[in-house]
Amino acid sequence: MEQIKAYDPKGIILSGGPCSVTAPDSPRAPQEIFTMGIPVFGICYGQQTMVTQLGGVVERGHAREFGRAFVTVRTHNALLDGVWDEGAKEQVWMSHGDRVTKLPDGFEITGASEGAPYAMIADNNRRFYAVQFHPEVVHTPHGAALLKNFTHKVCGCRGDWTMAAFRAESIAKIRKQVGTGKVICGLSGGVDSSVTAILLHEAIGDQLHCIYVDTGLMRKGESEQVVSLFRDHYNIPLIHEDAGSLFLQKLEGIFDPEQKRKIIGGLFIDVFDDCAKRIGGADFLAQGTLYPDVIESVSFTGGPSVTIKSHHNVGGLPARMNLKLVEPLRELFKDEVRALGTELGMHPDFVKRHPFPGPGLAIRIPGAITAEKLEILRKADAVYLEEIHNAGLYDEIWQAFAVLLPVKTVGVMGDERSYDYVCALRAVTSTDGMTADYYHFSHAFLSRISTRLINEVPGINRVVYDITSKPPGTIEWE
Ligand code: XMP
Repeated sequence: MEQIKAYDPKGIILSGGPCSVTAPDSPRAPQEIFTMGIPVFGICYGQQTMVTQLGGVVERGHAREFGRAFVTVRTHNALLDGVWDEGAKEQVWMSHGDRVTKLPDGFEITGASEGAPYAMIADNNRRFYAVQFHPEVVHTPHGAALLKNFTHKVCGCRGDWTMAAFRAESIAKIRKQVGTGKVICGLSGGVDSSVTAILLHEAIGDQLHCIYVDTGLMRKGESEQVVSLFRDHYNIPLIHEDAGSLFLQKLEGIFDPEQKRKIIGGLFIDVFDDCAKRIGGADFLAQGTLYPDVIESVSFTGGPSVTIKSHHNVGGLPARMNLKLVEPLRELFKDEVRALGTELGMHPDFVKRHPFPGPGLAIRIPGAITAEKLEILRKADAVYLEEIHNAGLYDEIWQAFAVLLPVKTVGVMGDERSYDYVCALRAVTSTDGMTADYYHFSHAFLSRISTRLINEVPGINRVVYDITSKPPGTIEWE
């Protein structure tokens, strides 16, 4: 509460979280925020704790609701101003098990869905608003407008944060933090680490040294592209370390997804450490950590998020090498990193590249990884992405990739029996990777890609399409 008072906020948003307010020791907001006279907006868990703390009731045991739902607007208020009209039925994104069953005094229902009769509630006098759904995700199409109404109209904020201001501020911060120190940065070929490196290069020039650890788990042609982009295009010196056979050897016979992630993360650190020693060590390590990485891999007891997956980063290095961290993108979401890349003059094709996970193709081959499977998957992935580019769909999709299943099925090709692997295709839309919906390809497109994959990629004789959203699925299969 001391910190909140010192910050002197214009309003407070209570966010969602994985706990249940019905569980003992689940988190609560400091009670005093409700008597400060400032607006409060509760989202999902935030709604439930707000209701509980103000004298209402939240219960467990109702049907869990995940994914798309529709809210019917009952009464108008400042939050809905210019966004949703009374009587309208609007798409929202739900992800909850508990729900409100009795309102605190002063509240009214402003909207309801089939699974959440208290989907939107408000106490207009105290300027308290709360929703069961998630306005912060793209699958609530008008959610950003609701949040803007809260911050701008209800709280009176201005919204003068721009990418140009962020760039200038970050550069000043990096210079202040680093001083005359030496910084190493691990490049992965993705947008995040590239934007980090380019921002750092702008801030500190040749105090920056980049290292690209080639895990052998990359897509077709990817390593060559990274090396040429940095060395030839940006003229940023780069160590290219080919460690493919080492990774493959250590991953032999490993089935468990978390174990795979940990082995890859650990090896990456070893190889990176060796490279760093070769350039004479460093004082700082730069990482392209984004806000979703921060949220999804942190786990506090009773705290915000459970560990969904151990994210691959160079987390163990700072302690081992006595390095301090530079993480200029730590508070940004992916769409903001892309905007920063554009602000830094990066080519649109590069900025728009689909995300690619640190553990690479290893987490797209459920079960044990072999060189043969990697080769099949690389070919399949390249054909799939080529078709998506040809159809002009690449920019509409957040991420598209092939997965090689550890299942062989029987087929018939040219009158011969075949017994080969199943390839699963995944394509999702999202803006931040936190939630996602599967992409609705036409059947004609899916048929074309299936035919091409089976004709052109030896080792595959069946193709399936993944139609799971996130939640309940994740984007990657492991
Ligand atoms: P999931 O599978 O958790 O993925 O829904 C969300 C986004 O994060 C990417 N991803 C990773 N990125 N290191 C990364 O740099 C990782 O270990 C990792 N795991 C998943 C994933 O591709 C998607 O864009």
